[in-house]
Amino acid sequence: MVDKSGFPKMIAPSILSADFAHLADEILSVEKAGADIIHIDVMDGHFVPNITLGAPVVKKIRDVTSLPLDCHLMIKEPHRYIADFLDAGASMISVHVETSKARHSIRLIKKAGLKAGIVINPPTSLRSIMPYLELVDFVLVMTVNPGFGGQKMIEGCLKKVSDLYELREKNRLEFLIEVDGGINLENISRVKAAGADIFVAGAAIFKNPPYRNVIRKMKKIIRS
Ligand code: DX5
Ligand code: ZN
Repeated sequence: MVDKSGFPKMIAPSILSADFAHLADEILSVEKAGADIIHIDVMDGHFVPNITLGAPVVKKIRDVTSLPLDCHLMIKEPHRYIADFLDAGASMISVHVETSKARHSIRLIKKAGLKAGIVINPPTSLRSIMPYLELVDFVLVMTVNPGFGGQKMIEGCLKKVSDLYELREKNRLEFLIEVDGGINLENISRVKAAGADIFVAGAAIFKNPPYRNVIRKMKKIIRS
């Protein structure tokens, strides 16, 4: 995944907006509709105000799809749970730079052989992730304040994406850029123009069936 030359731009549906009573069907539907990655939002009610799901649910998701599972940990002490997500079958794990021991978490993820990502919230400056850029496989730039699906994108955060893109090119770094929060058919071309490689979308997909239509349209835009 670190070889970004020729790396196709990808759509990662966020299951936060899926129907949790029919999660397996929802995941199979987006897989059939052309999803590239399944984005899983893990929230603990401390780092963010909301609570979602943990490693046991990820383990069940692993049984229903062969797509990469991208676990976005919005939890206070992610280093305590990396082994659980590894056992559950995660493919990519990201931790927030705003958490304590983020560097330790990244090392644990890499040591486990998974793709490691550092996440940056809207108010946090790019400077804070500089020490991570040579270590991580991807940077996840939040374009909403984390905690809830269906929010409006903070367009100002796209400047951070383009600055990060320039920084990567200038320094010949290898990380991919993932963007998360409020991405929809109307703004996805601007997210692409800013330099994103992986596009997370929750409400724009799961609240707009049939999924095939929206995923196809998104892919057409990001791969054109
Ligand atoms: C927000 C989550 C996002 C969210 C994206 O805290 O990290 O992944 O589910 O959903 P939309 O696309 O609805 O903003
Ligand atoms: Zn997310």
